[in-house]
Amino acid sequence: MAKRWSVDSWREMPIRHQPTYADVTAQVAVEAQIKNFPPLVFAGEARKLHARLADAANGRAFLLQGGDCAESFAEFHPDHIRDTFRVLLQMAVVLTFGASLPVIKVGRMAGQFAKPRSSDIESQNGVDLPSYRGDIINGIEFSEAARRPDPARMLQAYSQAAATLNLIRAFAQGGYADLHQVHRWNLGFVSGSPESERYRDLADRIGESLAFMEACGLTTEEVSGLRQTDFFTSHEALLLSYEEKLTRVDSTSGDWYDCSAHMLWIGDRTRSLDEAHVEFLRGVENPIGVKVGPSMDSDELIRLMDVLNPGNEAGRLTLIVRMGAEKVHELLPPLLARVKAEGRVALWACDPMHGNTIKSSSGYKTRPFDRIVAEVRGFFAVHQAEGTYAGGVHFEMTGRDVTECIGGAQEITEENLRDRYHTHCDPRLNASQSLELAFLIAEQLKAQRQDTRPHVVAAQ
Ligand code: PEP
Ligand code: CO
Repeated sequence: MAKRWSVDSWREMPIRHQPTYADVTAQVAVEAQIKNFPPLVFAGEARKLHARLADAANGRAFLLQGGDCAESFAEFHPDHIRDTFRVLLQMAVVLTFGASLPVIKVGRMAGQFAKPRSSDIESQNGVDLPSYRGDIINGIEFSEAARRPDPARMLQAYSQAAATLNLIRAFAQGGYADLHQVHRWNLGFVSGSPESERYRDLADRIGESLAFMEACGLTTEEVSGLRQTDFFTSHEALLLSYEEKLTRVDSTSGDWYDCSAHMLWIGDRTRSLDEAHVEFLRGVENPIGVKVGPSMDSDELIRLMDVLNPGNEAGRLTLIVRMGAEKVHELLPPLLARVKAEGRVALWACDPMHGNTIKSSSGYKTRPFDRIVAEVRGFFAVHQAEGTYAGGVHFEMTGRDVTECIGGAQEITEENLRDRYHTHCDPRLNASQSLELAFLIAEQLKAQRQDTRPHVVAAQ
């Protein structure tokens, strides 16, 4: 694929999981409008994330990526944005404090609207309709009108992404993320739970450390990282006509950046080498991710790395592994070994959600918390055995008190699923489960740091 890339060269390639709009004139008009909209992020911010991810690829930082499976127009509310943001902050604090390692925070937020689906058709009571493909494409309601792809939805998605990002930036930089607020980030419905008590203890220790530093004369005015934080956005770059229109040449570097988010990833169903999604993303300079599911073999992975990261740059490519709790033990080691043997750099992250989805007896799609935990543990164990670095995690989670994944300290049962099952696509961890998982990962990370420390010292 040494062919020249252009912002629309993907249009000549086979493509999957795209809508067909009945009204092509309306589609073209909407796309022309989006082409003139302001970028949502700046190239410089994407470069900053690139540099941070390079640290993670080299074992000096850890990636925490999380948020909704699918953002929706119906659930667009400042409280939901705030709650997801603050659970991510809490998780990051738990990880940073537990492992003494910088944590890079990346939301599946402000643009995660398009979904690949296993079938084009959904059947209910003998009626067949096109599947729901995410709010940027069609509506979730099971009616012919809602399921018809509507290009105007791209405009609404853009405006929701812009407003979400605006609030996130305000939270990240306007005082909400100040470490002095660490106690206040606990959500009401989590308080009283064991992980909430653990979090309170940790917040007390952070408070004491801050007071100690201030007593020594180091104030938060001087250390901006204590008062504010960097928070980046990401989504699956699935709807390529939308992504193309937000892809711009950066005036400082002359390079192309997809300015719909800081980081974009390619899903497990659209990562074929000679297809449109790989073609499009190989030409943008943002940090990119690729989902690595059970069907990936090591030859294919190396070829993908050749195409997506020809310069073998740290931070360019994050491999988001989603094998399932059992398969990770068998399928990940050969990939790690091959990438290492070929001298390739990659940031390896664990998505313990997408390989562990089951249908409950009540008919809801769910994920057992135990299996999610098992895949995370498996991921760290395999890295330890191969001598490679487990550099990040990728979750579907929300700050809301939902009942979508079974298990965890709250012991959500299959019967509880119907109580608060709100997701527009896959089941998410709630705030309490997310925090519980963060404590577990902090332990794994700490152990990994202890294991690798002698090597790091030896290398210096
Ligand atoms: C997702 O992240 O929501 C998703 C569809 O994942 P995958 O491509 O790994 O199946
Ligand atoms: Co999902």
